[in-house]
Amino acid sequence: MSAVTLSLVGAGHRGAESYGDYCLRFPERARVVAVAEPDPVRMQQFVDAHRIPPEGQFRTWEDLLAQPRLSDALVVATPDQLRDGPVVTGARKGYALLVEKPFAPTEDQLDAMSAAITDSGAFVGVAHVLRYTPFYRTVKDLIDQGTVGRLIHIDQTEDIGYWHFAHSYVRGNWRRQDETTPMLLAKSCHDLDLLTWLIDEPATSVSSAGSLTHFTRQHAPAGAPARCTDGCPAAESCPFFAPRLYLDRMKNHPIWPVTAVTRDTSPEARLRALQEGPYGRCVYHCDNTQPDHQVVTINFPGGVIATLRIGAFTGSNTRTIRLLGSHGEISGRLDTGEIEVRRFLPAAGSGVQDWPRWDRDALGRSGMPDDETWTISAGPGTDPDEAATGRESDGHAGGDDGLMHEFVEQVQQWKAGRGAALPTELRDAERSHRIAFAAERSRHSGQTVGLTR
Ligand SMILES: NC(=O)c1ccc[n+]([C@@H]2O[C@H](COP(=O)([O-])OP(=O)(O)OC[C@H]3O[C@@H](n4cnc5c(N)ncnc54)[C@H](O)[C@@H]3O)[C@@H](O)[C@H]2O)c1
Repeated sequence: MSAVTLSLVGAGHRGAESYGDYCLRFPERARVVAVAEPDPVRMQQFVDAHRIPPEGQFRTWEDLLAQPRLSDALVVATPDQLRDGPVVTGARKGYALLVEKPFAPTEDQLDAMSAAITDSGAFVGVAHVLRYTPFYRTVKDLIDQGTVGRLIHIDQTEDIGYWHFAHSYVRGNWRRQDETTPMLLAKSCHDLDLLTWLIDEPATSVSSAGSLTHFTRQHAPAGAPARCTDGCPAAESCPFFAPRLYLDRMKNHPIWPVTAVTRDTSPEARLRALQEGPYGRCVYHCDNTQPDHQVVTINFPGGVIATLRIGAFTGSNTRTIRLLGSHGEISGRLDTGEIEVRRFLPAAGSGVQDWPRWDRDALGRSGMPDDETWTISAGPGTDPDEAATGRESDGHAGGDDGLMHEFVEQVQQWKAGRGAALPTELRDAERSHRIAFAAERSRHSGQTVGLTR
């Protein structure tokens, strides 16, 4: 079967390092034949790496989509605010679409895009990559097999990590809600998507709390200048001191987030970027408006509840999950891929006479010592087929490759006139995005918000 051909709009971090990189590793599956990118340096690096001829090179998405259809599929990896134009035009042009999250930055745009796409009949996949990870697929299978009985509560956490939060939500592109999207949508629409997928029911209401508590002027160390590079007296004690992060601790790290600071990752270029650009600013003297910690509670039919906690104040940069069921519990951590399952009964076949002597303290601390308990390793690279290729990447814990494998396969089906379906299509994105918009209304109003669709 010939490779699926792709046109890419936005050859930035996601476009080049995830989708572009996938095509370089799996050329027999997908190939980029056209690209739109206004940044000349990014454009040159991308067209060189993918050997795209001049007739496949465009400055903007408008220029690319003014042409007759150039490929099977269009990948939209533009900034959050630049979604509706390429998505709706691409759908009308007859491309199969893979759209970065967030699918739409506002609810009005979501409504308009949804209507236009439905009219066009286009095949649209949304990049909710976590559903394609071995970790969350295993969790979903455990729920669907009834391993812990009836699901009662899911508690998901997203530990953004102090350095990542400072990079993206204090100094960087997502620091202002009025210029981009709420942090909940930008960072955690994946988590909202996971929760609705795992529970598999439409949510009925949502409430949320959270605010910007720390990254404000009033918490600036005495005498801290506007830029870290201007002789900050708190350099030694501040975890967010930019030269330590980008010049020292990330010294041997020439990819994101350093490439967001400067495309030239030499020490001299990094220092210059910190002296002149946004990433050298003191985190207490920025124009950021995103909350730095937030909790969301989502109610589902039958009393099932999901809670999500996100925030800046963690060392780790990962997700954890705990599922409480009527007959057991599951807990897991995405970065290690470790999942522990515990059922509220001894393993079948173990008789009363086999029970270990119960130590009173142990019972008090960790419950019945003979509950059936086991662990599963479900990190990236645990799929023997993929591991055998030696080409897989662990981007988003294997979710980036998982999404692309499935998208490419479905585009082949679609080209052949057979029904194509992805686990994360428009209707799925609508569900998670509507919860995010409602949660933000709740956070500002202090009221629980009902969900009708
Ligand atoms: N799925 C995920 O897990 C995930 C992870 C990170 C980011 N994202 C999303 O991916 C999107 C891209 O993020 P990024 O980090 O790659 O940002 P980025 O800024 O690195 O890349 C965006 C690119 O779009 C280009 N662009 C701007 N205007 C354009 C136009 N008119 N036509 C064509 N290209 C244009 C920019 O020059 C830039 O190179 C964002 O919406 C972001 O929220 C998704």
